[in-house]
Amino acid sequence: MNKNIAIFASGSGSNAEKIIQYFKARETAQVVCVFSNKSDAFVLERVQKYNIPTQYFPLKDWKQPEPIIQRLREFKVDYIILAGFLLKIPQVLIDLYPNRIINIHPALLPKYGGKGMYGKHVHEAVIEAQETESGITIHYIDENYDEGTTIFQATCKVLPTDTPDSLAEKIHLLEHEHFPKVIEQIITTK
Ligand code: GAR
Repeated sequence: MNKNIAIFASGSGSNAEKIIQYFKARETAQVVCVFSNKSDAFVLERVQKYNIPTQYFPLKDWKQPEPIIQRLREFKVDYIILAGFLLKIPQVLIDLYPNRIINIHPALLPKYGGKGMYGKHVHEAVIEAQETESGITIHYIDENYDEGTTIFQATCKVLPTDTPDSLAEKIHLLEHEHFPKVIEQIITTK
C-alpha cells in the first residue's frame, strides 16, 4: 500500500529534496508534508516548487506536540523521516510512531553521535580525531539522541587533505544516494 511520509528538517533540506524527488517517480510512497522547527530554514523554500505543504512549529510545539500530532493525523502520515532535524523527538511521538521514525546521521554511529553532534560539528570532530573513514548511519529513533537501532551504514574515506567542508560534501553524496532507497526498502517490507 502507498505510504504517506512526513519530513522533519531544520536546515538546508538537500536530503528532503532528494527524498521528495525519488518518491515523485514511484508509487510506493509520497511526501505529504514538511515540518520545521526553524521559521527561516531553507528547506521550507526549497520544497515549495513541489507543492508540498510546509509548516513551521515553534519550540513549544515540539515540547508539547499536540498541534504537530494533529497535523500528522490530518495528513494520515505513516512514517516520519528526520532529514537534518536537530531537536529531540518527544516521547509521545515516538510512542505514536514506534519504528516509524527514521533518522540519518552524518557519521558512523555509535561514534560521533549525541548532543551537539550535528552537521559540521560531526565532520570537525572526525577530522580532529584523524579518522581515516567516516560515513552515514540510518537508524530508528528512540528517546535518546542517535541511539536507536541501526538500519544501514555506508562509508567513505577521509583523506589527510580533507576539511570539514570537503568531508561534508562526500557525506551528502552518500546520503543522497542511499537515504531514499533505504526508506523505500523499510516501508515496503513492513
Ligand atoms: C545531513 O548531513 C544530516 O545527516 C545531518 O544534517 C545534514 C542536513 O543536510 N543530520 C544530523 O547531523 C543529525 N544529527 P540537509 O539539510 O542538506 O539535508
